[in-house]
Amino acid sequence: MNNLKVILLIVISFLTIEKSNAQKMDVESSIEELLAKMTLFEKIGQMNQVNGRNPTDKLPGQIRSGEIGSMLNIGSPELVNSLQKNAKEESRLGIPLLIARDVIHGFKTMFPIPLGQAASFNPEMVELGARIAAKEASEKGIRWTFAPMMDISRDARWGRIAESFGEDTYLAEIMAVAMVKGFQGKDLSNPSSIAACAKHFVAYGAAEGGRDYNSTYVPERQLRNVYLPPFEKAIREANCATVMTSFNANNGIPASGNEFLLKNVLRKEWGFDGIVVSDWGSIKEMVQMGFCEDDKEAALKGVNGGVDVEMTSGTYLAYIETLIAEGKLQQKTIDDAVRNVLRLKFKLGLFDNPYTDIKAKSSIYSPEHLQAAKQAAEESFVLLKNKNNTLPLSNKIKTVAIIGPMADAPHDQMGTWTFDGEKAMTQTPLQALRKQYGKEVKFIYEQGLAFSRDTLKVNFSKAIDAAKQADVVLLFVGEEAILSGEAHCLAEINLKGAQSELLEALSKTGTPMVTLVMAGRPLTIDKEIKLSDAVLYLWHPGTMGGPAVADILFGKSVPSGKLPVTFPKYVGQIPVYYNHDRVGRPAHKKETLIKDIPLEAKQSSLGASSYYLDAGFDALFDFGYGLSYTTFEYSNLVLSADSLSSSDVLTVTVDLKNTGKYQATEILQLYTADLAGSIARPIKELKDFKRINLKPGETQKVTFKLPMERLAFWNIDNKKIVEPGKFNLMVGGNSNEVVTKEFIVRQ
Ligand code: BGC
Repeated sequence: MNNLKVILLIVISFLTIEKSNAQKMDVESSIEELLAKMTLFEKIGQMNQVNGRNPTDKLPGQIRSGEIGSMLNIGSPELVNSLQKNAKEESRLGIPLLIARDVIHGFKTMFPIPLGQAASFNPEMVELGARIAAKEASEKGIRWTFAPMMDISRDARWGRIAESFGEDTYLAEIMAVAMVKGFQGKDLSNPSSIAACAKHFVAYGAAEGGRDYNSTYVPERQLRNVYLPPFEKAIREANCATVMTSFNANNGIPASGNEFLLKNVLRKEWGFDGIVVSDWGSIKEMVQMGFCEDDKEAALKGVNGGVDVEMTSGTYLAYIETLIAEGKLQQKTIDDAVRNVLRLKFKLGLFDNPYTDIKAKSSIYSPEHLQAAKQAAEESFVLLKNKNNTLPLSNKIKTVAIIGPMADAPHDQMGTWTFDGEKAMTQTPLQALRKQYGKEVKFIYEQGLAFSRDTLKVNFSKAIDAAKQADVVLLFVGEEAILSGEAHCLAEINLKGAQSELLEALSKTGTPMVTLVMAGRPLTIDKEIKLSDAVLYLWHPGTMGGPAVADILFGKSVPSGKLPVTFPKYVGQIPVYYNHDRVGRPAHKKETLIKDIPLEAKQSSLGASSYYLDAGFDALFDFGYGLSYTTFEYSNLVLSADSLSSSDVLTVTVDLKNTGKYQATEILQLYTADLAGSIARPIKELKDFKRINLKPGETQKVTFKLPMERLAFWNIDNKKIVEPGKFNLMVGGNSNEVVTKEFIVRQ
């Protein structure tokens, strides 16, 4: 770059900063001007969010009076416009409404569930998916989504694991930032941008027993090391506009009344100036939890706790005025909350134009959107087994039996949180296979079971006959959408109904069998994996799941997804996650299992290590695991230095070779292990990853730049620092198979 260019860049960035500072000051002075005119009732109105699902005749009047600041679940853009007119043109101060909706993994064009998206390890794709969702949703007047959910989830019984980015903090950080950027776009005031919401603040995924809404007991240090980082990144790096408090009480304190987290951590430490919204009814639920005597105290603890907007339970509207009159609440607390709400309304440009252009050309289900959803689905699939290269299907295959309850389940393949996706627009594997390959291949379709929980075996014989006639069986099993998601937890995470029996019966035919699993969580499918020749995990893949599956099966594209969460063999192993702390007596892989214990064995004859007699130690599949149609070889791991200071950047190179026959993408994962710290440390932690596409036989030197500050953690003194000492650095295609080198961080 020549000098002139550099000077020009400096001037441009200076002017941009100046402009954004000036805009900020403009917004702040507009807020103050408006606030000065507002009555207490109008202020409380801004803190009141109501459900618009079944609007009554009273609604326009309530809006005109200033009683409502935001709404969720309004059915149509026409209604949004008419309610905005009540707010903007017919209320005393003309404050527009904020219209919200749960747009979680797509609006109309459904993308894979977030857990599936995380399996792509592709933040660009995640950002694009959110951008598309924002475009489609904003066409209907929605300018605020309650996503992304960034709860770390180490328990597959918890139904909301489907909505998460899995068990790893670093992966969740990257995906959360990408999704926020996608929703919010470059500029919130663009009509196609929607405000994102970092949820659920915090530790909701640690619900005891994996039962939704249940208590959590996460100590502050673990909160800071494991659960808080995605929120901090979403706010600091992606300017996430809003945060939602969670339903759980952590260490006895409900999230919606947790002053320490909402005020000290979120506002003071992170400088958050957006909206904190409660979860649905979670202010009032503090009464049910025994944290408040009645609704009035719930309002008091909610406002004083730091929740600006109450979602649906109305205690703010009912009690704030009295609480102020009684001197229990300060006017300033209310003003601060209202400032946060108005700030977002200004940033979204709603004061200038709160209306939606209903006549504008729609982008919903556009070819670009469908193509992106297809690619996202492809990239989310994880190949778990591929004995004798059963996949991709060879062109010698003439007859294929398509069997199972999930082969043609357009509703269920969209997964949880599908408020707006339409089953009629969803392309299933059965449809896509017939359409794309129906000329060359004969497909015989036998459902076998009508739905995933079906126990009626009357159609097994037809399915078995189909399998016998075919060169290969494609068996689609899994979970219906309703079996995962909010409140949909399971004590057993196996294949429901008679699916496992169907699989077993088909395996006995001797026809090679590819099992394809559509599910919202990891399932305990050890037995089913053993009985199948190949297994492809599809999660709930969304609108374009069918065409994506068809292309992968026939080798037009190659699987590249990796597991964002450990798969247990047995439910009793939960919680099982790769980055657990070291223990004093780790399992050493030679443990005696129950079947091998001699009769009357002596108490200590089995040794003493951390494993289950009946399940051993290992998971079914490790975090980061996923096969390809090709194979990759890692070699020549080189570190730029073996001793560094905590402010250095380590350059890591590794040679990656495609040793197989297909051009394909590998997701390289870089882990570090802090060998000794002021507290016991995880056995390894993901610190970086890269997607690299290679032709057969090609080798590439892949470079990672690892800033040592990424090794920082909240230590014994509750300070975030990089502690000096020995570290291992590992690179590999999953968390278990890695090449390793050691380095030292100096004092
Ligand atoms: C969920 C939130 C969601 C809200 C609004 C709650 O039940 O926990 O994640 O955003 O409902 O629909």
